[in-house]
Amino acid sequence: MFPKNAWYVAAMADEVGAERPLGRRICGAPLALWRDAQGVAHAVEDWCPHRGAPLSLGRVCDGALVCGYHGLAMGCDGRTVAMPGQRVRGFPPVRAFPLVERHGFLWVWPGEAALADPAAIHDCPWTAPGHADDWAFGGGLFHVKADYRLMIDNLMDLTHETYVHAGSIGQKEIDETPCETRVDGDVVTTRREMHGIIAPPFWQMALRGVGLDDQAPVDRWQICQFYPPSHVLIEVGVAQAGRGGFDAPPEAKASAVVVDFITPETETTMWYFWGMARRFAPRDAALTAQIREGQGRIFSEDIEMLERQQANLSAWPERALLKLNIDAGGVQSRRVLERWIAREQAPDGGAPRAGAGAAGGPAEAAVVAVPVAGPAQVPVRQAGGVGA
Ligand code: FES
Ligand SMILES: [Fe+2]
Repeated sequence: MFPKNAWYVAAMADEVGAERPLGRRICGAPLALWRDAQGVAHAVEDWCPHRGAPLSLGRVCDGALVCGYHGLAMGCDGRTVAMPGQRVRGFPPVRAFPLVERHGFLWVWPGEAALADPAAIHDCPWTAPGHADDWAFGGGLFHVKADYRLMIDNLMDLTHETYVHAGSIGQKEIDETPCETRVDGDVVTTRREMHGIIAPPFWQMALRGVGLDDQAPVDRWQICQFYPPSHVLIEVGVAQAGRGGFDAPPEAKASAVVVDFITPETETTMWYFWGMARRFAPRDAALTAQIREGQGRIFSEDIEMLERQQANLSAWPERALLKLNIDAGGVQSRRVLERWIAREQAPDGGAPRAGAGAAGGPAEAAVVAVPVAGPAQVPVRQAGGVGA
């Protein structure tokens, strides 16, 4: 269950070099990615028209993707360019996928190629013109054996930090502070602010990194935003208590954006591109490495939970799950996805309309504030609710 008429991150740009193709399944489609002689990246089906060998097992020669079995040379449009001792004009083409390199990632459109508009690729402020010098970014990639929506649930409900990440970013105040969830068109926002608390270990490290007292009370914020098809960007940070929290002046806070580009591989596996873009000490490469290492360790704590959760859901697909107030962000994000998928499957087969990440016009104007208080504890079947 994923939209296909959307831009997904298929790879980090440096995963695809000049000589070796990369094989990667995206939204169920096996792709071979490579760079031509000019360094431009391309993606075609990972299928050789000759005998069906995976093209990703081949190599790159003069900009063409050469099959590693009998030497067929594939062009970027999915048509065979040459093959030793053969006339190739009648060879059936394979599917070529729209691909754009931007923001340090290779973005692929697995749906209808005619609808792919590069202007709809999610904007990333840390590489925006005029802003890049103010930012530092470090990140990585995990393969996770779980439905990509479980990761969206995870990132849109950070109460789990108290338990899963108790030694780094978790603290009891997260659990004790209610969050507010809003739906603005296709964008879902869950916001939590904690006041006058002591920063947990990860943020103490960040405070030291910007020369602030790591033991003084702080205001901490977490603003999780879901953008379809599967991007979650989280504004996080701490500021000296009483200086305005999220709006505190730069010298009084350490803040960052947690970057999560989540790409379905199959119905029950995903590629998880994670990272952190920060606005403090942007030229401190050692700090970037330290944060990347710490964040990688924190996110790896989620993986066992999600993979074991997926195993349970697969084993007992009919068992009911609860939708609690803390699940509002994930539940609302799933509703957006359901709308996108329904639209794709409609007889007119139109492209999604959302702003970020998809082709089409502006996002819907409706704003819905989702209540977070009260006994909204509704058992639901996995097929229609949290586990779907
Ligand atoms: S299978 Fe690719 S050239 Fe034969
Ligand atoms: Fe987590």
